[in-house]
Amino acid sequence: MHKDMKNSTFKILQKLIYDQSGICLGDSKLTLLQTRVGRLMRQRGIIDYQKYVDYLKNDSDGTRLNDLLDAISTNVTSFFREFEQFKLLDKIIYKWLDKGYKKIRAWSCACSTGEEPYSMAITFSEVIKSKNIDVKILATDINTQVLETARKREYTEERIEPVSRPLRIKYFKTSKKDEEKIYQVNMGLRKMITFKRINLSTNPFPMKGPFDVIFCRNVMIYFDKKMRTQLLMQIHHLLKPGGYIMLGHSESLTGLNIPLEYVQPSVYRKKEDE
Ligand SMILES: C[S@@+](CC[C@H](N)C(=O)[O-])C[C@H]1O[C@@H](n2cnc3c(N)ncnc32)[C@H](O)[C@@H]1O
Repeated sequence: MHKDMKNSTFKILQKLIYDQSGICLGDSKLTLLQTRVGRLMRQRGIIDYQKYVDYLKNDSDGTRLNDLLDAISTNVTSFFREFEQFKLLDKIIYKWLDKGYKKIRAWSCACSTGEEPYSMAITFSEVIKSKNIDVKILATDINTQVLETARKREYTEERIEPVSRPLRIKYFKTSKKDEEKIYQVNMGLRKMITFKRINLSTNPFPMKGPFDVIFCRNVMIYFDKKMRTQLLMQIHHLLKPGGYIMLGHSESLTGLNIPLEYVQPSVYRKKEDE
């Protein structure tokens, strides 16, 4: 059993996590950090927090830091989360088809275990059907474990609950694993998506864009104003003129000086003439 984490150790880890990921752990998060770091320490046979800090400092290939970032990130997600935005995406895709788009690029920038980009892929497939449109979705996250889950594309009955029966039949293959029914996303959808680790606190990002739509949902809540502004300015740069950004329903651009037009709650757009 580890003793309590000292406030001085908390401050060192808090700063390291902020510097490396932009995630702001407020002072009230000491117990949370202690629990999550405690689990890592047990797995690695490390008995006190100071030794854990030393262990992190001897991190030749970055895997120790990665493990810490994996352990502290919150990965709650679901299929078709904030369904209104998928209804809007559906309408926007029809508009793009009317305009003669032959190529669509989308980015899910904090994709967690994959439910968000697969929901985007289903929405694209439902509208585009057999039309010859080149759709690619980039799905990224800082957490290597959630990316592995997303690549595996397997979901339990409970996770699949928000997906309607007709869509389940069309886009998932079922099997049994340890008496549990498993839904596996079909290869058609999987091939639309590239999963990659990208840390949103890096500047600039490794890709050029431009993107027609960017889902940046339920991740900015972990960042401070400086980090949100830096991220949103990069997103603005990567969006095509007229392109959309979807935020989480509790997130907005209010108070941030970002040149994006309001569309509806949590949805913004880059001006056509930029
Ligand atoms: C609450 S989940 C949101 C998932 C999905 N976008 C949704 O709305 O359902 C937040 C995700 O942000 C990721 N994340 C946190 N900090 C990040 C960073 N600096 N760079 C990239 N991803 C980050 C976490 O790993 C986690 O998977």
